Amino acid sequence: MVAEADGARIVVTGGAGFLGSWLCERLVGEGATVVCVDSLVTGSRENVASLEAHPRFTVVRADVCDGIPVDGHVDMVFHLASVASPVHYLRLPLETLRTGSVGTTHALDLAARTGARFLLGSTSEVYGDPLEHPQHESYWGNVNPIGPRSVYDEAKRFAEASTAAYRRARGTDTTIARIFNTYGPRMALADGRVVPAFVQQALAGEPLTVAGDGSQTRSLCWVGDTVDGLVRLAASGEAGPVNIGGDVEITVLDLARRVIQITRSSSTIEHVPLPQDDPQVRRPDLTQAEGLLGWRPRTPLDDGLTRTIEWMAARGRPERVPA
Ligand SMILES: NC(=O)c1ccc[n+]([C@@H]2O[C@H](COP(=O)([O-])OP(=O)(O)OC[C@H]3O[C@@H](n4cnc5c(N)ncnc54)[C@H](O)[C@@H]3O)[C@@H](O)[C@H]2O)c1
Repeated sequence: MVAEADGARIVVTGGAGFLGSWLCERLVGEGATVVCVDSLVTGSRENVASLEAHPRFTVVRADVCDGIPVDGHVDMVFHLASVASPVHYLRLPLETLRTGSVGTTHALDLAARTGARFLLGSTSEVYGDPLEHPQHESYWGNVNPIGPRSVYDEAKRFAEASTAAYRRARGTDTTIARIFNTYGPRMALADGRVVPAFVQQALAGEPLTVAGDGSQTRSLCWVGDTVDGLVRLAASGEAGPVNIGGDVEITVLDLARRVIQITRSSSTIEHVPLPQDDPQVRRPDLTQAEGLLGWRPRTPLDDGLTRTIEWMAARGRPERVPA
């Protein structure tokens, strides 16, 4: 277990992605030596550009499905490698399943071999389209095992099962974070997630495309808060799973209106068909995060959205993701 980042050697798989790059920055800032292992399938060197010259930061370009080429002692493994948004996992269904299964086994083997603590970056998607609301960690979920989203949801469920099994069978020091929708600078701009999609549309003066009637809810968390939750969970001795996310629910329609308001856009709202198996409600029960980690999200939605919009406005319009 790693109680403090200072002086620790930490492997972050998926470290060149959105969440991973914020995590790497935080850990290097706290004095850790960080090895970022990433295939760059959805991440980029640009995300970690501010760290590249740092003597305690290294990027290893590798697919975790082929093994994790890191030698020497390791104190902590944060396993975040996985494509994370519907556009990508629908485009890469078999790779997504392999990363969650084979890739996670390699990350767990690294932790088991080196005696490191292991944190799995799991997801609220393990709850599927939940029949319990808000979602407590004791809820087992409602996932369609053969629907299009299942490649992601079931890969993460398998990853959770593997993590729990390594703990039981090998005594590996593991924990599981169930991460809910997180937003902020460095989110991929063209991958269909609701915040970047709305912001891009609003900045371009195009209609904001709201799925269905927009009454489905999301609860969003500022990336800095999510990363703080992950770091606290890693530093605790807790096995988890622990929900990490925002617990202020907002309908997708209200989110679209907030984005229009903050960007002062002339955009209108256009309703489009709901994707298959789209969850209707999403909100974490944070009792465990608060009780075990003393963690809850701190950043108000309007503040986080404003910072995200400023960053996205400075980036300009992205290329479309290949179909
Ligand atoms: N952002 C969210 O709202 C959210 C919510 C729930 C869970 N998560 C989880 O957090 C993690 C990070 O998500 P993100 O939003 O930063 O996505 P992201 O796509 O920005 O980052 C994922 C990173 O993993 C890398 N990767 C993917 N497959 C890989 C492989 N086989 N080998 C090596 N690297 C690989 C990608 O190149 C990318 O850099 C993911 O595991 C995701 O499932 C994110």
